[in-house]
Amino acid sequence: MKKKILSVFGTRPEAIKMAPLVKELEKNKDIIDSKVCVTAQHREMLDQVLEIFDIHPDYDLDIMKPNQDLYEITSRVLLKMRDVLDDYKPDMVLVHGDTTTSTTAALAAFYKQIAVGHIEAGLRTGNIYSPWPEEMNRKMTGALSTWHFAPTQLARENLRTENVKEANIFVTGNTVIDALYLAASKIKSSPELEQSIIEELNGLFHTDLASVLNSKYILVTGHRRENFGDGFIHICESLQEIAREFPEVNIVYPVHLNPNVKGPVYDLLKGFKNIHLIQPLSYLPFIYLLERCYFVLTDSGGIQEEAPSFGKPVLVMRNTTERPEAVHAGTVKLVGTDKDKIVTETRRLIKEQSYYNSMAEAHNPYGDGKACERITKQLINF
Ligand code: UD1
Ligand code: UDP
Repeated sequence: MKKKILSVFGTRPEAIKMAPLVKELEKNKDIIDSKVCVTAQHREMLDQVLEIFDIHPDYDLDIMKPNQDLYEITSRVLLKMRDVLDDYKPDMVLVHGDTTTSTTAALAAFYKQIAVGHIEAGLRTGNIYSPWPEEMNRKMTGALSTWHFAPTQLARENLRTENVKEANIFVTGNTVIDALYLAASKIKSSPELEQSIIEELNGLFHTDLASVLNSKYILVTGHRRENFGDGFIHICESLQEIAREFPEVNIVYPVHLNPNVKGPVYDLLKGFKNIHLIQPLSYLPFIYLLERCYFVLTDSGGIQEEAPSFGKPVLVMRNTTERPEAVHAGTVKLVGTDKDKIVTETRRLIKEQSYYNSMAEAHNPYGDGKACERITKQLINF
């Protein structure tokens, strides 16, 4: 009998990090019956990833509503997952990371006494309100899971501290690096693909793309719920100040579709000649811009893992991080959402070459691109 494994994800970053695993599971068709369920907690931003990795979900819960709150996501996913689990009856459910999709899908599986495997397990800040609700999501998902695929030794130690059984934890590396290598090799091996990425980017910029790509540009993203309101206003005010002080520096900002982000960002930043507000990018164009940028300003989790591979300094607009490995390596620095701090650190990176160089060394504490192989091997062994 083949093992029935259901991979469940719903947002852009989960899809990017689960895609290479779905592909790896498909390679083992003789032993594993693999199905994919997307909750579509994100819609357009999820579909962009599904298209790039050519994934056709077996189940699509299609739950996204504009400006949804946590109660809505949780209740819709929980009820719809019941039907999916009744229909497919998997032996195991795989979830990823710390979104409300992950925790709720894990809970739905637990209610049916189906084993849960947690990919990217064991990340912790130690503060349940930062990031919110992700820190609690990953703790709850961990508590609901039998198998824990930790990306690093540190993540493993976090789980050990919470008394998770040693034998149930596997250090695999982070699948984000598998996805990154897949993307980078796709781009490098196909000049046509590179051309189509440039065309896609050209269509999004309201200015000459080459002049941006040839300049020192800062790549910006942001979407954390705990930064809504004052946090985002301070972030935008710092970007205004940076844009005024350094007119030769471009700021490229693919704006998250969350209305709590789009609203203040477009209100406060439109009209600046050197600030380029664009639609969320599909994964390959984003990686293309990441590889060429001067440095990154972000509150994203995944980008903290990707940028160090390219030797790009990252200023993280949060007070905590569950990914301290790259902070210890010197590539990532926490700056919070304090305007002065963001501007001061940005100014240093632009003006002090030796400071920039000290942060710009390529580090890859998150894996070797073989995480999915390791995870699949374990899944076959269970
Ligand atoms: C979610 C996750 C967060 C993750 C982030 C990645 C939770 C609670 N939050 O936050 O952990 O880091 O995704 O980006 O699980 N929207 C669209 N189209 C899309 C996606 C979003 O229009 O494709 C808009 C909708 O109005 C939606 C809103 O953004 O209601 C918020 O989406 P939601 O998934 O609730 O929150 P994120 O901030 O995206
Ligand atoms: N990303 C993307 N397009 C963008 C911005 C980000 O494809 O316009 C990718 C990025 O490469 C990373 C992931 O999305 O893999 C990060 O997602 P996000 O910041 O939304 O979520 P988080 O990682 O904070 O949960």
